Amino acid sequence: MENPGIQEETLHLCRIAGTGSYVPERVVTNADFEKIVDTSDAWIVERTGIRERRFAAENEFTSDMATAAARKAIKNAGITVEDIDMIIVTTVSPDNIFPSTAARVQNNLGAVNAIGFDLEAACAGLIYGIEVGKRFIATGFKNILVIGAEKLSGMMDMQDRNTCILFGDGAGAVILQRANQNTGRILATELGLDGSRAEMLQVPAGGSRLRPTYEVLDARKQYMAMRGKETFRYAVTYMVDCARKVFEKANCLVEKLTLAIPHQANLRIIQAAAERLGLRDDQVFLNVAKYGNTSSASVGIALDEAVTSGRIHRGDIVLLVAFGSGFSWGAVLLEW
Ligand code: COA
Repeated sequence: MENPGIQEETLHLCRIAGTGSYVPERVVTNADFEKIVDTSDAWIVERTGIRERRFAAENEFTSDMATAAARKAIKNAGITVEDIDMIIVTTVSPDNIFPSTAARVQNNLGAVNAIGFDLEAACAGLIYGIEVGKRFIATGFKNILVIGAEKLSGMMDMQDRNTCILFGDGAGAVILQRANQNTGRILATELGLDGSRAEMLQVPAGGSRLRPTYEVLDARKQYMAMRGKETFRYAVTYMVDCARKVFEKANCLVEKLTLAIPHQANLRIIQAAAERLGLRDDQVFLNVAKYGNTSSASVGIALDEAVTSGRIHRGDIVLLVAFGSGFSWGAVLLEW
C-alpha cells in the first residue's frame, strides 16, 4: 500500500503501550442453553470448545464495557485520561446507530482532549483499529486508545441453536504510542476484505437495507444469521493467509513466534489454522472456553489476559490475527 508523505520506517514506529479488558459478571453456561434450545453441553464443547460465556446486564451497555477496559489500559500504560488524543471504538453492537460509542466512552472517561470515532470491521475490528491508529501515530498523535467492545447478547436469536451458543459480551483495549529503540514495536500488518460474501454472516435488519417493521421483527431478521460451515472454512483460510503475510513482510520465521493471539471464535477454527501454520500448542493463546466469540473484543481480551498472566515479555514476537463478517480479516505482528 502506498503511504504518500509518510516514510515506511516511520509508519512502523508504533507500539502497544498498555492493555486492558473487561467481561461482565454474569456467566452463562452451556447447561443454561440446554434449557432454551435443542442442544447439549457435549455438542457445544465438541464443535466449538466453548463451555461458558458472559452476558452483560440489561442496563450495561457496550460503552460501559469499553470504558472499563479502557481504564485498565490507561493505567497499565502509565498515562492519564487527559493524555489520550484519539479514541477508536471497534464494534458491531454500538450503543446507538449514532452518536458513536467512542463519544460515549470519551464522556465516561472524561477524555476531554480526545477526538474519536467508531470503526466496524466485525471480528477483525481491533486489528483494523490498530492499523488505523498506527497511521495516526505516524502523523503525530501521542496516545491512541483502541477498544474492541461488544454486547452481542442483544443481537442473538435465542431460538436459533446454530448461532445463540457461539457468542458473548466483553471489551478489550490497547493504548498505541510511538515506538523507539527502548520499546517494542509493530513489525508488520495485513488487512483483507471480501465483500462478495457479506450475506454469510450478517444482521439482516436494522440498517438501511431492511427497516425494522413489525413484519421484519416477527421474522426475527433483527438477529444475527450465519452460514456456519462456509464461515468456518473461510475463517481458517484467511487467518492462515494473513498470518503468513505478516511473517513474510517482517522477514520473520514462524518458529520465532512466542505467542499467537487468534480471534476466539471456535477452538476447531483456531486448531485448524494453527496446524496449517505449523504452530505448537504452547504458541497459541486460548480463552474461547470461558468467553465464546466476543467479536471485536476477542483479540483485545485475549491479549490482555496473555499480558497479565505473564505469557508475554519484552522482546517476544506476538501475532494478533482475526477474521469476521464482511468477510474481513487481518493480522498484526509485534515485537513486544
Ligand atoms: N446443538 C446441537 N446441534 C446443533 C447446534 C447446537 N447448538 N447447532 C447446529 N446443530 C446441528 C445442525 O442443525 C445440524 O443438524 P442437521 O444435520 O440435522 O441439519 C448439525 O448440528 C450439524 O451442523 P453443521 O453445520 O454441520 O455443524 P458444524 O460441525 O459445521 O458446526 C458450527 C456448526 C456453527 C459450530 C460451525 O459451523 C462453526 O463454528 N462455524 C463458524 C462459526 C463462527 O465462528 N462464526 C464467527 C466467525 S467470526
